[in-house]
Amino acid sequence: MRQPLVAGNWKMNGSAASIDTLMAGLKQGMAEVKTAAVAVCPPFVYISKVAELAKGTKIGVGSQDISDQESGAFTGEVSGPMLKEVGCQYAIVGHSERRAIYGESDAFTARKFAAARKFGLIPILCVGELLEEREQGITEQVVGRQLDAVIELEGIAALGQAVIAYEPVWAIGTGKTASPQQAQDVHAFIRAKLATLDKGVADKVQILYGGSVKGSNAVELFGMPDLDGGLIGGASLTADEFLAICRAPNQS
Ligand code: 13P
Repeated sequence: MRQPLVAGNWKMNGSAASIDTLMAGLKQGMAEVKTAAVAVCPPFVYISKVAELAKGTKIGVGSQDISDQESGAFTGEVSGPMLKEVGCQYAIVGHSERRAIYGESDAFTARKFAAARKFGLIPILCVGELLEEREQGITEQVVGRQLDAVIELEGIAALGQAVIAYEPVWAIGTGKTASPQQAQDVHAFIRAKLATLDKGVADKVQILYGGSVKGSNAVELFGMPDLDGGLIGGASLTADEFLAICRAPNQS
């Protein structure tokens, strides 16, 4: 049995004050989260604060990105050892906003994935197609290519110690959720692709869905057989809404 994971990607949102409120709300509601593991991924500058607030709770902490380098003259970058030291367990890599807005390639994402693992963080590898790619019928090709870059660099076994997040780009922040069946189809494709290389890894890896997940659609989405939770953007910024999503696996 794979344990569901619900991770909040706060993106570039929040302030010290709003984070105090959000974390207080989450802490209060965690007792009702029975099944899912929960994590939050704040902006870099707030990670220490959130890790401190999360101490003694079951709320895990992750970063939204990670440098592919360990240390040195890399202005603006934040390394794996730094993230580990301030309390991260997870690092998101290859989010579509990094890929699309900042031009991060599949190969660069794979190097970030490798860095996360090297420094003891669990990578949350984001994959997903653009709207035009879905319309061209090349979703599986795109997602397959994104996975292959990581498998080529790190080997299939590495995915057994990672989390994959399928985030169709057209569903991110748009209010257009993939239907449970659309999501399931891609999740099943990912698992089947990994199974051709290593069935144990395919059975074990958590595959999260991301893209306009809300309290109102999470139960149905997470009820699909290959969905092991979610990577949540906008709805992770308010405690009640995020907790409703975190409770969804209680029922599925
Ligand atoms: P939304 O939940 O705001 O659509 O964002 C999804 C996402 O990009 C999570 O990483």
